[in-house]
Amino acid sequence: MGQEQPPLGKQYGYRLADGGRLNYDAVYRRHSLREQIDCIATTGNLNSKLTPPFAIDSNTLDRYLTLLQSASNPSLHHRKPLLLDAGAGLGEVGWWLSSHSPFEVIAVDYAFLACKLGFKRFGRTVESPRYITADLHNLPFRHSSFSAVISIDSLYFLPHPLPALSELARVMLPGAPLIFTILSSDQSYGCALTEWTKLLKANDFTAIGSADVSACWQAQMHEKHAARWAKRKQIMAALGVPAAQELAVSRTLLGLGGAGPTISTTRRAEIYAQRAD
Ligand SMILES: C[S@@+](CC[C@H](N)C(=O)[O-])C[C@H]1O[C@@H](n2cnc3c(N)ncnc32)[C@H](O)[C@@H]1O
Repeated sequence: MGQEQPPLGKQYGYRLADGGRLNYDAVYRRHSLREQIDCIATTGNLNSKLTPPFAIDSNTLDRYLTLLQSASNPSLHHRKPLLLDAGAGLGEVGWWLSSHSPFEVIAVDYAFLACKLGFKRFGRTVESPRYITADLHNLPFRHSSFSAVISIDSLYFLPHPLPALSELARVMLPGAPLIFTILSSDQSYGCALTEWTKLLKANDFTAIGSADVSACWQAQMHEKHAARWAKRKQIMAALGVPAAQELAVSRTLLGLGGAGPTISTTRRAEIYAQRAD
């Protein structure tokens, strides 16, 4: 009998949570605290309003849009092509794509709180995504519903991505594009790409390629956490003890002490694939 492989993320040491729904709700329960921290870090003022997109630069968003539009086949489209934002969180990426393209976006996340906060933030305009709380392993959609899928920072959290990829393949139209991101440690980057390519092939996807976007991701993450760390006294004075945990994360990620992966030793890739015809 073959030895059972450890879950992909665990193997490479970048799985950040155990995939439990409640864990993610707990993460989103701290969302407004993180927003307040970022207000102080970026503007010095707790009461200023941050405008989206928050966590992602416009070049990256433009690239996603170009890839999704050039890869999706208009002859396969529904009247309005559907784009699935899988593991959407608040649905910021989906919201931006829906405002800049003909796609109608369905944002799926299994953290109820993520969908609730997302709807409150992005759900009230014509272009806003529709939010659905669901598990990527068991999607409440018919076969061949989507013209494209995007999944940012989500698939590598799954303990077993194989069945989730198979579920994505089920709901995608033949030939529809899939874009997703992975994080990996420096040492396992090549290995992680090989494993994901195998997983895609095993699930009726054609792997189109990948891009190493580590430099851009590292610069953004460094800017965000360095700004939080630089304003730590002001943040602690305004928000007190609850902010300490977030600042400890920034400290570790900046490599200022503590155990754990740091920004400079973490790599990021964008992976492009297409549902087989
Ligand atoms: C790091 S967040 C990324 C959110 C968003 N894509 C973004 O870029 O901001 C990962 C998201 O994946 C969701 N997630 C993890 N496992 C999931 C599953 N099995 N089904 C649906 N969503 C899941 C979590 O609830 C969380 O919101």
